[in-house]
Amino acid sequence: MKANQRTNNTQAKDNEVFCAGREAELQRLNEQLRNLAARLQSVQEEESKRIAGRLHDELGQALTALKMDVIWLLKRLTPADAELQEKAAGMKELIDRSIKTIRSLSTELHPSILDDLGLAAAMQWYGKEFEQRTGIRLQLAYPPAEAAVESAVANTVFRVFQAALTNAAQHAGASAVSVTVQTVDGRMDVTIRDNGRGISLEALQSARSIGLIQMRERVFSHNGTLEIQRADGGGTEIKIGIPLPLHSKSTTKAIVDLDVE
Ligand SMILES: Nc1ncnc2c1ncn2[C@@H]1O[C@H](COP(=O)(O)OP(=O)(O)O)[C@@H](O)[C@H]1O
Ligand SMILES: [Mg+2]
Repeated sequence: MKANQRTNNTQAKDNEVFCAGREAELQRLNEQLRNLAARLQSVQEEESKRIAGRLHDELGQALTALKMDVIWLLKRLTPADAELQEKAAGMKELIDRSIKTIRSLSTELHPSILDDLGLAAAMQWYGKEFEQRTGIRLQLAYPPAEAAVESAVANTVFRVFQAALTNAAQHAGASAVSVTVQTVDGRMDVTIRDNGRGISLEALQSARSIGLIQMRERVFSHNGTLEIQRADGGGTEIKIGIPLPLHSKSTTKAIVDLDVE
């Protein structure tokens, strides 16, 4: 009997050691994956920045030069060259559209406005562009006179904002999105809520929801928190909280209504 008990005890101890080993191993793998995700994200960010720069500088400039040439041609054509005039006018239109596409592509890849003017301006600018493109109404509440946010944090907040708006347009069937930014007790809280059909549990838990996983990883890399849920009264709500490196005191909100131009 005693011998049996001893065997059981030893087995239980062995199991404990085995479980602890497995847990440490899982933790190590988890950490490795986190590091890999962070690394991938920064590589992707760098690459996007590089391509955006080349698109804007090289292709954008070449098209602008081409447009000037077509304008030059148009000026030299007489009413007798009606057919040529029509052709050249068509070329100019196509070049204009291409310049616009390149601008929007390059900003989508890397919003240089974020580096130049900061988070609030970049969010307002992107919001306006989003409203014009999708017809979805956006209400953005950003604290007035917000102190400059560290660029890595600004980048993460902007990317989450961008991905959430894209999802609201692609999946939610929403007609309006509201975004609130607040800084309280050294933390930046951002809430993005749409009035669409509401995210499904399946989509929330799916390993294929790469956009959502990327959002989470970005926020976690700043030791932040992220919650995605169906909002009260329908729609989807995304809440993130990111600690700010410097302590900033609480601010009141200001509603900035974006007018579609
Ligand atoms: N705002 C939303 N409203 C409804 N469903 C959503 C919303 N955002 C995301 N989803 C669902 O979650 C899925 C995963 O989103 P995401 O990870 O961004 O991937 P993707 O946009 O490439 O499909 C979407 O395919 C969609 O089914
Ligand atoms: Mg998406």
